[in-house]
Amino acid sequence: MDYREIFMHRGKAYHNAMLRQPSARDHEFERLFDACRPTAGQHLLDFPSGGGYLQRHLAAGVTVTNLELSSGFDTGVPVCDAAAGPHSGPFDHIVCLAALHHIDDQAGFLERLLGQLRPGGTLHVGDVAAGSRIDAFLDGFIGRYNQTGHQGSYLRNDPAWFERIGRVTRIGELSCPWVFESEAQMLDFCNDLFGLVDCPRQALRDALSSHVGFHRQGSQILLEWRLLYADLQT
Ligand SMILES: C[S@@+](CC[C@H](N)C(=O)[O-])C[C@H]1O[C@@H](n2cnc3c(N)ncnc32)[C@H](O)[C@@H]1O
Repeated sequence: MDYREIFMHRGKAYHNAMLRQPSARDHEFERLFDACRPTAGQHLLDFPSGGGYLQRHLAAGVTVTNLELSSGFDTGVPVCDAAAGPHSGPFDHIVCLAALHHIDDQAGFLERLLGQLRPGGTLHVGDVAAGSRIDAFLDGFIGRYNQTGHQGSYLRNDPAWFERIGRVTRIGELSCPWVFESEAQMLDFCNDLFGLVDCPRQALRDALSSHVGFHRQGSQILLEWRLLYADLQT
């Protein structure tokens, strides 16, 4: 199954998880802009955007264009083909979050995105790092329990690879914990976001504990999510 087909199956459950817990991934979205924050009057493309989850992390006055690669989220976000890419630029910022590991020609995809930036604009990429605990969790445990399997081409923390595509203005693997009010909420969210089917809750809890790690902080549960973040300019 390619990723367009995969998200035809998983998109609705993913979207429901994001609607039920809209703040769970706040740190993951906010880290995108650690080094360069969109400001009022700027235009940002979120691609692929899922159901348009980035908007709530942006300042008033930032205009967002959401674009998807799959119609499976069923949210009315326009869909385009990865090979064609977006043509509605130029943008001041482009975000590509948690998606590049499903793209075949990653360098070509990023080059097409850079081509849609205004001079001085920034492409913000966030994705699972190759060889990380989360890489093993997704392709191991998650691939076993979702209907579609999971086999990602994860990004290496390799500045030279990114430098061949654009000018790297920051790169690093960073902590961006997912935050929940309870373990039960974390298990529900992960079950739906990852499209798990007939996965025993204890098995999911054990896998999150041993592969990703989670801990209690005050009244909250923090799932120790980490991504590789890179900012590129032309
Ligand atoms: C984990 S979701 C991330 C969505 C959103 N950026 C977020 O952070 O919630 C993965 C995304 O990759 C997209 N995707 C990546 N490669 C794709 C491909 N080859 N065909 C179709 N969709 C693809 C899916 O449509 C989906 O939006």
